[in-house]
Amino acid sequence: MQIINHQTGDYIIRHCELGDLIPVMEINLKTLPEHYSDYFYESLLAELPEAFMVAEHQGKLVGYIMCKSEYGFSNFKKLGFVKKGHVVSVAVLEEYRKKGLGKAIIEECIQGIKSKRCDELYLEVRCSNNDAVRLYEKIGFVIKQRLKAYYRDGEDAFLMAIEFTY
Ligand SMILES: CC(C)(COP(=O)(O)OP(=O)(O)OC[C@H]1O[C@@H](n2cnc3c(N)ncnc32)[C@H](O)[C@@H]1OP(=O)(O)O)[C@@H](O)C(=O)NCCC(=O)NCCS
Repeated sequence: MQIINHQTGDYIIRHCELGDLIPVMEINLKTLPEHYSDYFYESLLAELPEAFMVAEHQGKLVGYIMCKSEYGFSNFKKLGFVKKGHVVSVAVLEEYRKKGLGKAIIEECIQGIKSKRCDELYLEVRCSNNDAVRLYEKIGFVIKQRLKAYYRDGEDAFLMAIEFTY
């Protein structure tokens, strides 16, 4: 049985299933320059299904977010060693943007990350990607670092992070 995490009108936010991975990869190919192997998608789904969300419209997948978790130095506490969620990739098909789907999938993903008791969630975003940076800030992420020449084409990234309290 499929569980709907969030519904607005005809749009559904739910956890990703194995059968969703091909449409997820197609959305990734259409929307982002960073691509991954089939195995990588499968491993993220196996590792952290709680934070792998999809947005669906009338049976068609139109967005996704996928994450991993790791232990490492805190982006907030000096010398703190914490459990961190890491957003690997998030995208919504262009024709479905600015309807609140990006915000909804990230917020559902945060619930999944918190269910795994992560202390923080972080991501990298191109410094020129104003739409994404603004959206992350609205959700509560803050810019913590600028990563020089992070992308293959030489562009810098902002490392943005959000901290959770339980
Ligand atoms: C970043 C991305 C996922 C955001 O997805 P989205 O579905 O457009 O996100 P939202 O609709 O929740 O929010 C985006 C904007 O739409 C606005 N919006 C939300 N609902 C709206 C509505 N009903 N009507 C008009 N605008 C609306 C939001 O206020 C927000 O605008 P603002 O940031 O200027 O205030 C999407 O732009 C994308 O896939 N980009 C390409 C891939 C990418 O860059 N991924 C991030 C890599 S780090």
